[in-house]
Amino acid sequence: MNEVTQKLQREAERIASRHPIPEFYTRFKAPIALARRLFYKDPTVVMMRDIVQSVLQEDLGHGIFHSTHVSIDCAVLIWVEMQTLQFYDAEVERLMVLGLLAGLLHDIRREEDNHAEAGAKEALRLLRDFPVSGTEADCVYSAIRNHEAFTTPFPCRLPWIQLISDCLYDSDKFRWGVDTFTHTLWHMANHRGLTPREIVERFPWGMSGIMQIIETFRTPTGREFGPEILMTGVEIGKEIYRYLLNWCREESNEK
Ligand SMILES: [Fe+2]
Ligand SMILES: [Fe+2]
Repeated sequence: MNEVTQKLQREAERIASRHPIPEFYTRFKAPIALARRLFYKDPTVVMMRDIVQSVLQEDLGHGIFHSTHVSIDCAVLIWVEMQTLQFYDAEVERLMVLGLLAGLLHDIRREEDNHAEAGAKEALRLLRDFPVSGTEADCVYSAIRNHEAFTTPFPCRLPWIQLISDCLYDSDKFRWGVDTFTHTLWHMANHRGLTPREIVERFPWGMSGIMQIIETFRTPTGREFGPEILMTGVEIGKEIYRYLLNWCREESNEK
């Protein structure tokens, strides 16, 4: 990453650290700990992480950082959504593992047109070498195929597949909050060679995209906690926007 963009990212992290942590991350500490444990310890997930890590590129801010956050939040959402249903702990954990796999794999074909469909097919291919059943592989496939915003999702053939599909969507869209401004934006700007002035020009367009996502959450938990995650991002974004405007002003005064 170039020096200016790196400096701006550090400043964005400083700004973000002054904002409160969204409630989703303080209320669900136990399932977050469980999701993290499965993410770092479950042999199937660890095996997939090794593969995904070597394939994903950080270029556009959709590398392993993004996939890790999507994975863990997806597993947490699954746990929360399943609390009202009659399932054994082991069954819930199995679905969390499938959510973690879907999260890791969902952007594996990010650089392709229709990356959701292409990623779903690639996930299915990779899962052939994994200890998952045909129905479980179909679950991961269906979830990845449905993760793109502003498209009509395909209905899933079983309620628990639908649940994982909806949780993956919501956890991916949680990233449009704080992560946009501490991570994604800077990787995209760096990749495209954008100057601070060009970032400023694109800012209002990016912010309006976030506001549109707020209406699209698919699970009750996503609808309850997602808007706060995104609005925290928007508040951080406003501060970063002001900081960037100042930066540009000072830069033109120096010329
Ligand atoms: Fe994606
Ligand atoms: Fe994603």
